[in-house]
Amino acid sequence: MRRTTTLFKMVAAVALMGLFLSACGQTATKASTGGKLAVGVVLPTKDEPRWIQDQARFNDAFTAAGYDVTILFSQGSSATEKLNVEALISKGVKVLIICPQDASAAAAAADEARAANIKVVSYDRLIRDTASVDYYVTFDSFAVGAAWSTYMIQQAGSTTGNNLYLYAGAASDNNAFIFFEGAWETIQPKIADGTFVIKNSSEAVAVKDLPKLTRDQEAKIIGQITTNWDFATAKKLAQDNLTAAAAADKGTVYIIAPNDGTARAIADAFGADKDVTKYFISGQDAEVASLQYIIDGKQSMTVLKDVRTLVADAIAAAQAYLQGQTPPQTTTYNNGKIDVPAKPSAIVTVTTANFYSAVIKSGYWPTSYFSHLDTVGDYAP
Ligand code: BGC
Repeated sequence: MRRTTTLFKMVAAVALMGLFLSACGQTATKASTGGKLAVGVVLPTKDEPRWIQDQARFNDAFTAAGYDVTILFSQGSSATEKLNVEALISKGVKVLIICPQDASAAAAAADEARAANIKVVSYDRLIRDTASVDYYVTFDSFAVGAAWSTYMIQQAGSTTGNNLYLYAGAASDNNAFIFFEGAWETIQPKIADGTFVIKNSSEAVAVKDLPKLTRDQEAKIIGQITTNWDFATAKKLAQDNLTAAAAADKGTVYIIAPNDGTARAIADAFGADKDVTKYFISGQDAEVASLQYIIDGKQSMTVLKDVRTLVADAIAAAQAYLQGQTPPQTTTYNNGKIDVPAKPSAIVTVTTANFYSAVIKSGYWPTSYFSHLDTVGDYAP
């Protein structure tokens, strides 16, 4: 489940991918399908900015390549997801790019696609408990969790006894486990040495001396601290944690929040508590609203996972399959049944210190989306 790759291998793979793309070109497929690439995309929900980002970036990439693409949303329902997959099967797609709503529930849909001789590319989230997954297009999710903890460790410096609050994604999402694993394995030595004290999970406190956890141990902790990737759930959980905490458990707090939407909800709850004097909070996805929170000092960091890269990798994988080839592999992820080949992409921590270069100069979001941009540390228009 963990990445085993090195940065060098990843850089080499990215370079190879570039060569591969220019060598194979896209015309053969385009000509043979009359502008319709035999690929369908299924995304989990329109209700989170993250997946709207993916939709937009897929549309941009497919349009630039001169193809039409069908992108269907499952709206948080595995049943809808299965119907979407069946619709794409009847449409005659040859490659299915699917981000599962629920890792295990999606196995049946993947099996159906496999039975119809369709290549299944698991996109961003791994489909679990089935052999019917051909490839996994992903970011280095262990590194995402590690980035949260690294940030908190840097902020805490040499102080001790710091209040730590942990939050996680949905237990039905395999990524929630990998993010947590990366966070735990990075921060656990700093819990063991007294730098941090966990305040909101008895299950985490019970295993605080263990540098690595089993999936079952992680599941128990995630069961206590899950946001279910839902903003309202996240806010309510944070409020409940604050209600249960003594004033001494507040003051300056360090909060591992699993993504930007939940980070804003949790930050709002902590920010409203009169006993919280200062908080540090993580996130991920580089959502515009959270980047503005970072400029405004209401969120500390986010992790930019460049969706343009993921989309390019997914399309390249589809094209490889359509041309009878195999997409590049630098590692594998075990999905409970098989080791799925993958080529995870690098992630970038964003704070006010590198905001301008990471977000604006990289072309990820335009200047016009933000106010007070001139206050970021590396502002250089
Ligand atoms: C994705 C995150 C996203 C979360 C909630 C995860 O699987 O990797 O980018 O924020 O799901 O949708």
